[in-house]
Amino acid sequence: MIKLAIVGTGGMANGHAKAFASIKGAKIVSCADLRADAAAAFAKTHGIPTHYADHMEMMKNEDIDAISNVTPDSAHCSVSLDAIRLGKHVLCEKPLATNANDARRMLEAAKKAKIINMVNFSYRASSALQKASSMVKEGKIGEIRHFEASYLQSWLVSSSRKDWNKNPGSRWRLCSAAGSKGDLGDIGVHILDLTTFVAGPISKIYCNLKTFNKGNGDEFIDGMKMDANDSFSATVELANGALGTIHSSRWATGHSNSLALSIFGTKGALKIDLDKSWGDLQICIGEKNIA
Ligand SMILES: NC(=O)c1ccc[n+]([C@@H]2O[C@H](COP(=O)([O-])OP(=O)(O)OC[C@H]3O[C@@H](n4cnc5c(N)ncnc54)[C@H](O)[C@@H]3O)[C@@H](O)[C@H]2O)c1
Repeated sequence: MIKLAIVGTGGMANGHAKAFASIKGAKIVSCADLRADAAAAFAKTHGIPTHYADHMEMMKNEDIDAISNVTPDSAHCSVSLDAIRLGKHVLCEKPLATNANDARRMLEAAKKAKIINMVNFSYRASSALQKASSMVKEGKIGEIRHFEASYLQSWLVSSSRKDWNKNPGSRWRLCSAAGSKGDLGDIGVHILDLTTFVAGPISKIYCNLKTFNKGNGDEFIDGMKMDANDSFSATVELANGALGTIHSSRWATGHSNSLALSIFGTKGALKIDLDKSWGDLQICIGEKNIA
């Protein structure tokens, strides 16, 4: 039986708890959140035996094999390093860290301690994505020449986040001082991972980041400066020479959560639209139109 604990019991942690509960041979034995009341409520909802307001206290007191780090982005590095130091394996939410140096420190610490330190790029679970990646590796679409990738959300212009401007829970995502790297660091990392997983690593990138006025004429809400980027567009060249674009926005009216990738090679093309289906991969081999 693998004994797990969840650190950070906000929105996303519910998905982790439900998924772990469905795995035979795994058990959630504890959880921790800086907000003790949130940890207690979470433990009650998911039937977790113990809860803490301090993840260190939890890891020292409880018999735990691994933690799920579901804290906000700015806390990923310190919480994961604490777990690695205590010999606990880590599933860390994306982005792994908020800068490359911290990510390298986590990697080095995990390697040295022989600890698994995995980042949760959840869209890798798509069978269409896995198939696209293997088809490219097997040379089924030839040499990649071009690609288009986008991740579109609309929560800054819709009620999908229960009016983000009245909901303090969503605000750290819009504020650099709270550790947010904006749209690029939040959903941009997903579309960058998805694209490079299938098409290969990036060699050159030009990226334009944009922060729009949030509509109330005041860039501060409850003392938090809403200055993190909320859209980006990038022109990208891959190490294999392919050219393409990657863009993302939280202002994409009509798209609650849409990820799409098209790849064009010398022998064929592939198209994924995760908004429509996680399992459907559109394939064109030869000159037949994509279908
Ligand atoms: N993989 C995905 O598709 C996906 C989707 C949503 C969120 N996420 C990621 O999950 C993480 C959490 O997002 P969320 O939406 O649940 O945020 P959230 O703000 O709803 O929850 C974060 C929780 O962590 C707690 N916390 C903060 N610092 C802490 C610390 N040092 N120790 C313990 N608890 C701490 C907060 O009190 C809060 O309850 C983020 O990194 C986000 O990028 C990933």
